[in-house]
Amino acid sequence: MQKSYNIAFLTSGKSMGSNFEAVMTHIQKCNVPIRAKFLIITRADAPITQRAEKFGVKFIFLDDKKTFEQKLLTFLNKNNVHLIVLAGFMRKLSEDFLQKYPGDIINIHPALLPKFGGKGMFGMRVHEEVFQMKENFSGASVHYVNERYDEGKIIAQRKIPIDHCTSAEEIAKEVLKIEHELYPEVIEKLAREYLELYK
Ligand code: GAR
Repeated sequence: MQKSYNIAFLTSGKSMGSNFEAVMTHIQKCNVPIRAKFLIITRADAPITQRAEKFGVKFIFLDDKKTFEQKLLTFLNKNNVHLIVLAGFMRKLSEDFLQKYPGDIINIHPALLPKFGGKGMFGMRVHEEVFQMKENFSGASVHYVNERYDEGKIIAQRKIPIDHCTSAEEIAKEVLKIEHELYPEVIEKLAREYLELYK
């Protein structure tokens, strides 16, 4: 049987899932055997569930914070997941979890790290801060996840001019467009590297 690169998505709250959609659309046509094994949600009414249904990706609802990581580890092991893809996941994973999970974990952040990262910096809050600081550029960063918020090694970044944007919402829209290019590209690259190494 052909070896596949198995990924699982983690989201939290009322996740929209636009990055999930971009990644799924890409892996369906990219000619690399990447399999989306499951998607974790923490709210049953998260809009991302409709997208998961569209792509036929199983979603698992884990709402109890106390048992979240233990249950997650069980699903990861059962499905032989090589890469966890955080897509709008706003919580911090514990050091204990990071030590126990042997695969890679990546996150996409809607700014040019190390600027505009850290605790409390997620979603619109990032863009509001960028707008207030009158930045000429913003962008997206994909990085490995470690025990500190947004401080893991940066894998790729893309920068765009935002000096024409007149609100934080406009910046968010522009940045989201490039997130949708960057995240699938990085996942494909990691999959290719893995499959080349372990073929
Ligand atoms: C994205 O903009 C992502 O970069 C951000 O949440 C949004 C999720 O949108 N993540 C963070 O801020 C993490 N610190 P989506 O659900 O439509 O993919």
